[in-house]
Amino acid sequence: MLELKEIRKTFNPGTVNERVALDGINLTVNDGDFITIIGSNGAGKSTLFNAISGYFLTDSGSIILDGKDITMLPDHKRSRVMGRLFQDPMLGSAPGMSIEENLALAAGKGGWLSSVSKAQKKEFRERLALLNMGLEDRMKQPVGLLSGGQRQALTLLMATYNPPKVLLLDEHTAALDPATADKVLELTERIVAENHITCMMITHNMESALSLGNRTLMMDSGRIVFDVAGDERSRLTRDDLLDAFKAKSGHALDNDRILLQ
Ligand SMILES: Nc1ncnc2c1ncn2[C@@H]1O[C@H](COP(=O)(O)OP(=O)(O)OP(=O)(O)O)[C@@H](O)[C@H]1O
Ligand SMILES: [Mg+2]
Repeated sequence: MLELKEIRKTFNPGTVNERVALDGINLTVNDGDFITIIGSNGAGKSTLFNAISGYFLTDSGSIILDGKDITMLPDHKRSRVMGRLFQDPMLGSAPGMSIEENLALAAGKGGWLSSVSKAQKKEFRERLALLNMGLEDRMKQPVGLLSGGQRQALTLLMATYNPPKVLLLDEHTAALDPATADKVLELTERIVAENHITCMMITHNMESALSLGNRTLMMDSGRIVFDVAGDERSRLTRDDLLDAFKAKSGHALDNDRILLQ
């Protein structure tokens, strides 16, 4: 279980550029939850993930993971239990290294193929085959040659190779064409379900926000303004979600990527 208590983060405090990015976030994420997050531009969604992953320390509040206070734990220590994917497919894997070297890194072998057993290479191959992208026949090729979708699928496999306690997906399909985005979303659902990973996914796609996972949060101005799960969520349409946002935040959802759909 992940608990966030009164998390606050202000950028450039005391200057003309002061910006309250997280304004007292309280959230309990249960084991096995798959939470989708939607919100306006600048609502604080990515900042929330930065706080959870320890990319930066928050100004106040506490973050508790499985009963342990990790508020002050640096990100390299949290990364053992947290996986993260970004919008940019170029992040999350090393372009100059081969697919198998990247997987060796993800498996905790430091990217040294000499320390990878034959059995483990076989496992790399099998796991790659599950992605259905033909990568199992390209294990010696540099990752820089892959398409955005292939690379994002590989990053997903790497981030979940040793299943993390929490997987944070920050619009990880937003830079892909619609068909490839669908494929990576399907993979995401499957990998998350098969490994019982607790997952939080920021998306600008209202349909995905409602159809994937078991709970949806809407964020605005550093706050969670709407939190819905269960039967109530399963009855919601895209328009209901927009109405709920307006009712709770006092203005229409303003996200350039949502308007582009
Ligand atoms: N490193 C930073 N330095 C200064 N301000 C920042 C920094 N990171 C984020 N901000 C500001 O904090 C606010 C929240 O940004 P954040 O990136 O979390 O929004 P978001 O909800 O992810 O938006 P988007 O939908 O555009 O990705 C914004 O006003 C942003 O400009
Ligand atoms: Mg963002």
